[in-house]
Amino acid sequence: MDTFVWRDDYSVGYTPIDEQHQELFKRINAFGNALWEGQGKELLAAHLRFLADYVVSHFQTEEGLMTTHKFPLYEVHKPVHDAFVQEVSSVLNRIADAGLDTATAILVFEKSCDWTRAHVRGMDQELGRFLGAQRNSTAA
Ligand SMILES: [Fe+2]
Repeated sequence: MDTFVWRDDYSVGYTPIDEQHQELFKRINAFGNALWEGQGKELLAAHLRFLADYVVSHFQTEEGLMTTHKFPLYEVHKPVHDAFVQEVSSVLNRIADAGLDTATAILVFEKSCDWTRAHVRGMDQELGRFLGAQRNSTAA
């Protein structure tokens, strides 16, 4: 059962980003479900890699939108992405040989949920408001 549930108030008001966030939630839940089902270290590591791949490509999408639309807070938002990617890749490096044990996987899962929830409802909604306002001003 999915434990990291998408809610309407996570919407940033910009459909392409919302769709990617929903995919992100899906992959976080797939990782969580593998964990709750008691899957082994190898499979947990594979789920985390699958999630991490999407995080990287999703951040690229957001950053592309920021530069295309000259988002004024790019210099603030981008380092936050970079720091998270850095953190995830250091976990992936640590588990490359041994796989992901349950205790670490629980911490990683909780951190992924907390970070995503806070980031989406903070910086990403700020970005969404900016993109929405730009769209409205060009449509007018
Ligand atoms: Fe973001």
